[in-house]
Amino acid sequence: MGTVAAHGLCKSFGRVQALDGVTLDVPDGSFFVILGPSGAGKTTTLRAIAGLEKLDAGSVHLDGRDATGDAPAARDLAMVFQNYALYPRLTAYENIASPLRARRCSASEIATAVERVSNLLHIDRLLQRRPAQLSGGEMQRVALARALVRSPRAFLMDEPLTNLDLKLRVEMRTELTRIHRGLGATFVYVTNDQVEALSMADRVAVLKEGKVHQVGTPAEVYERPVSQWVAQFVGSPPISLLACHAEGDRLVGAEGWTLPRPRGTTAEDGRTLLLGLRAEDLSVETRGEASLPGELYGLEPLGDRTVVDVRVGTTILKVKARPTVTGTPGERLRVTVDLDRAHLFDAGTGLSLSGAGR
Ligand SMILES: Nc1ncnc2c1ncn2[C@@H]1O[C@H](COP(=O)(O)OP(=O)(O)O)[C@@H](O)[C@H]1O
Ligand SMILES: [Mg+2]
Repeated sequence: MGTVAAHGLCKSFGRVQALDGVTLDVPDGSFFVILGPSGAGKTTTLRAIAGLEKLDAGSVHLDGRDATGDAPAARDLAMVFQNYALYPRLTAYENIASPLRARRCSASEIATAVERVSNLLHIDRLLQRRPAQLSGGEMQRVALARALVRSPRAFLMDEPLTNLDLKLRVEMRTELTRIHRGLGATFVYVTNDQVEALSMADRVAVLKEGKVHQVGTPAEVYERPVSQWVAQFVGSPPISLLACHAEGDRLVGAEGWTLPRPRGTTAEDGRTLLLGLRAEDLSVETRGEASLPGELYGLEPLGDRTVVDVRVGTTILKVKARPTVTGTPGERLRVTVDLDRAHLFDAGTGLSLSGAGR
């Protein structure tokens, strides 16, 4: 078993309210990602779960049992920090073995456990090296191995890939999902990188200013964001937002365009709205009736695709296009909109006006 539940966590540091009623339910064996920008309260949440932070209010349950008052060591959780500090004088082997030595395991138990995680992380060849003889990525693997050598109730990971270069980060994303599957253990993983969240999580909790804004599968958070803020934080290039208002079953843009109101959305006439359009739901090829008039602003070739920036009034829309697309800035064009995938938000509250079925 390895369920982790946090209910109503509140924590202030002086005048800063780091956590404002954070509630999370992490199912046993899940890869649960807490996603949020810097300062959202992600580290404080993990530290609270680990028992390293005294709470102002709220409770932590582990495997259904109230652990709020338990000392960190009694919680049986393993934490991997962003700044993985390896012991510089010890070999990789001894670094990985250290948590087991602290628990007075026998030499043969230690050898078996270190061999198991070294195989899992592909670091067998590195075991006799000291940290100074390892690259950043190798050090991070050793640090992960040191956490994974035990079989705790759950693993808590605080942005463990942030210090790696991009290529290694991409590689480690796949590795970590593979390791998670292999272990069948519960992972609570913190990141500010939405790509990490979407690619690795079974469930994502989006955290902002000490509050959970949305919890769901990566697909739910991406396709049915509860607010303009979540929609903008998740997805790359970021979702484009066009100011408009409803007139019956049509949307009228601040710049004069009109479109049918997306099905399943509700909005009072006259209220200021934001139409949210993701790059892959827009096209510069004419293929549907719903379209917006614009002007080519710029092209961003990305190899496998090109992002076309189209100016509609004062807004720049990001449109995903084929890599072969061409055009001259200033040229007039129309952007086709897949209205079935469009999002509608209340400009005042930022909340989604797309129905639950969307
Ligand atoms: N020990 C501390 N003392 C004072 N303020 C803190 C402390 N730890 C965190 N904070 C503040 O609490 C907020 C949340 O911090 P943190 O949990 O580290 O966010 P994140 O990990 O999402 O970047 C931030 O405003 C941060 O400055
Ligand atoms: Mg942090």
